[in-house]
Amino acid sequence: MAKAKVRFVCQQCGQSSPRWAGRCPGCGEWNSMAEEVERPKPKTGGTNLDSGAARPISEVGLDEHVRMVTGVGEFDRILGGGFVRGSAVLVGGDPGIGKSTLALQVCERVTRAGAPALYITGEESLAQVKLRAQRLGVGSDRLLVAAQTDLGSVISEATKAEPGLLVVDSIQMVSDGQLDSAPGSVSQVRQCAARLISLAKQEGISLVLVGHVTKSGAIAGPRVLEHMVDTVLYFEGDGQHAYRLLRAVKNRFGSTKEIGVFEMRPDGLQGISNPSEFFIAGYGGGTGSAVVPCVEGTRPMLVEVQALVTRATYGTPERRVSGVDRNRISMLLAVLSRRGGLDLFDQSVFVSAAGGAQVTEPAADLGLAMAVASSFTDKAPAPRTAFVGEVGLGGEVRSVTKLGPRLTEVGRLGFKRAMVPGESERGLPKDLALDILPVSNIMDALDQFSS
Ligand code: TYD
Ligand code: MG
Repeated sequence: MAKAKVRFVCQQCGQSSPRWAGRCPGCGEWNSMAEEVERPKPKTGGTNLDSGAARPISEVGLDEHVRMVTGVGEFDRILGGGFVRGSAVLVGGDPGIGKSTLALQVCERVTRAGAPALYITGEESLAQVKLRAQRLGVGSDRLLVAAQTDLGSVISEATKAEPGLLVVDSIQMVSDGQLDSAPGSVSQVRQCAARLISLAKQEGISLVLVGHVTKSGAIAGPRVLEHMVDTVLYFEGDGQHAYRLLRAVKNRFGSTKEIGVFEMRPDGLQGISNPSEFFIAGYGGGTGSAVVPCVEGTRPMLVEVQALVTRATYGTPERRVSGVDRNRISMLLAVLSRRGGLDLFDQSVFVSAAGGAQVTEPAADLGLAMAVASSFTDKAPAPRTAFVGEVGLGGEVRSVTKLGPRLTEVGRLGFKRAMVPGESERGLPKDLALDILPVSNIMDALDQFSS
């Protein structure tokens, strides 16, 4: 038998080195190199997904049911219209965010469509899973559960059950007895994921791997894992709010721009098909607050942005943001000072998107600028007014994409007015029940936002 090889592998990025180092030569992380023993693998060929021989792409057939719609609407939306059969999805997120809940709910919906689902739990006992299932009202005979952490057993269970959907919760808990390294280490995670992914491809099983997230937000240990799977989803939200956002950071079969919005209820996750109402739930007008119609993926949604401007009592004025782009705010502050004549240089400015939303589009510029101006001048924006427009360095308010759908959403939620870029006034939907306030530059906007 060939000799076992000892390597040092970075638990963050997967970089391996024959010698130990205090700092990973790959990603620069300190104290992340751990010893791993690798036994030589038996020589086998790679796994071929088809016969392996080259052929014209025009002759490659598509399976009839390439997509499996789960029935959890927000989840299907993120995936781009359901699971692609044989694909692997990695779901990451902080502990307690609801990954296991989501996985179980998706399993249940899949079984309703007829296919069995297999849920492998490595972290909880079957009784704990049962308790959660009861809470969620899940009890189908086609939903199979197994408490397993051994890769071989997981694979044999999956081969026996022939499920349409296989969930492994979590991938960090599964280990291959053939490897000496500890469960959760990079080589274990990589090896187990690779075996499960190739099983999924061969058998046409949709695979969901649940992953942990490290302090810095990356899915624990292996960035490598993100390269291996087809789709990477992050489940985010915080303890302060009941809603959860599911984002795709990678998607081989769909857009990464879509987000799914859920609310965590006592009886499980409920998809929110109407996120605007959620994000502006606490909106009551007032100084420093502006409502912005953003577009996430294909979906317009209203978000409230808030600013607080106060004179810095000593030292450098602070600039703090949450849910919005810091650089964009710096730029807007400079434009407001130079082009709008607001003396912001000695002011501390705090800007946030309410409810934990993320506002990153340039189309939100005008709303952000007006929120800042409103707080600084202590004048509230006109009631039930939304703001949309990109602001340029010259102070000009520029047109934005998808203005029509944005304004339709504004009207739908009972808003009365919208401040929009001047040049885009023509070409708006005819049936808008909104007063349109066109502005061509930041001076115009400052003159009109509160009246
Ligand atoms: P869980 O799915 O266990 O999170 P993760 O797998 O990401 O660690 O979710 C746990 C949290 O969700 C827990 O704090 C309780 C809450 N919860 C509900 O509010 N309602 C429910 O129906 C369920 C099952 C959990
Ligand atoms: Mg869990």
